[in-house]
Amino acid sequence: MDILAIESSCDETAAAVVRDGRQILSNVIHTQVAEHGLYGGVVPEIASRRHVEMIVQVADTALAEAHHSVSSVDAVAVTAAPGLIGALLVGVNFAKSLAFAAGKPLIPVHHLRGHLAANYLAHPDLTPPFLGLVVSGGHSHIVEVLDYTELRVVGRTRDDAAGECFDKAARAMGLPYPGGVSIDRVSPGGDPSAFSLPIPHAEGYDFSFSGLKTAVVNLLHTAEQKGENVSVPDLAASLSHRVAGMLVSHTAAAARDLGYTKIVVAGGVSANSVLRTQLDECCRREGWTLCLPPLSLCGDNAAMIGAQAFYEMEAGHTAPLSLNACATMEISASF
Ligand code: KG4
Ligand code: ZN
Repeated sequence: MDILAIESSCDETAAAVVRDGRQILSNVIHTQVAEHGLYGGVVPEIASRRHVEMIVQVADTALAEAHHSVSSVDAVAVTAAPGLIGALLVGVNFAKSLAFAAGKPLIPVHHLRGHLAANYLAHPDLTPPFLGLVVSGGHSHIVEVLDYTELRVVGRTRDDAAGECFDKAARAMGLPYPGGVSIDRVSPGGDPSAFSLPIPHAEGYDFSFSGLKTAVVNLLHTAEQKGENVSVPDLAASLSHRVAGMLVSHTAAAARDLGYTKIVVAGGVSANSVLRTQLDECCRREGWTLCLPPLSLCGDNAAMIGAQAFYEMEAGHTAPLSLNACATMEISASF
């Protein structure tokens, strides 16, 4: 089954054609990063406008590269939640129009389920059940993936997401947007023990990152007031190691307690080199299997949406043309 998938939940306009949830036939991404970089973060109204301008040509290119047309694919899938509402609406309305015009089933996909499904594309043998760590710009979840479309959240951030913490701390350090990428670029040159940042506490497997972000901002303000210089690579390295340490220790605790030996990581922050190294070390030590997406599939893309869509379709999760986009939605909920 070949599915045309559309993704427009944030600042990437993306379309892909994916076969049987596992094989990428095409994967086209138009990123707006440079434009939002001028403002230091995503400007929702600009994101929506650029999606409107780009979506037709991005989808056309994805179909052409896969040697398909709208009438030859088997279904149309779209990210319908969560994300920026104006941005989501562009993709949802476009996908609804295509599905209606071509008489194809419409499959709504949860963006974070899509991130996890990036691993189905990269690891052909991967099947649920497994323990997932989803870390993006807006979410940080530890989730039991009981089956392809049956998920249970066991830990989540109480405040900021890991990516948000990186982005806001990077901004305070004067590093360019997107901050997580900048922090990862400078931190290898720094000393991770240079600053002893706090380890915010939350119940169970939950996370809290906002105190860590505030600690970085306060540290920079204090240094500025005293006229002292702060080594940005040292601070970036200290922050990366602290965030990665929290993510790895909570995931490992959940895996031990719940009896999982397969760990699957996803979302933009899964590109972080310190996190990847620490996860690898932890899983080797414990004898667990670790699945990470390749760097090309860590950030937002439509191939991951097409992968998850295959399993949603198999579970009968198609939508009527009255489908609406939702800015928030639990990963455990189905459309
Ligand atoms: O999944 P994603 O592309 O979009 C959302 O669904 O939010 O995640 C974006 C987040 C941003 O906060 C970005 O700074 C972060 O992922 N990110 C990284 C890295 N690459 C992207 N954070 C740390 N290290 C990276 N290498
Ligand atoms: Zn994402």
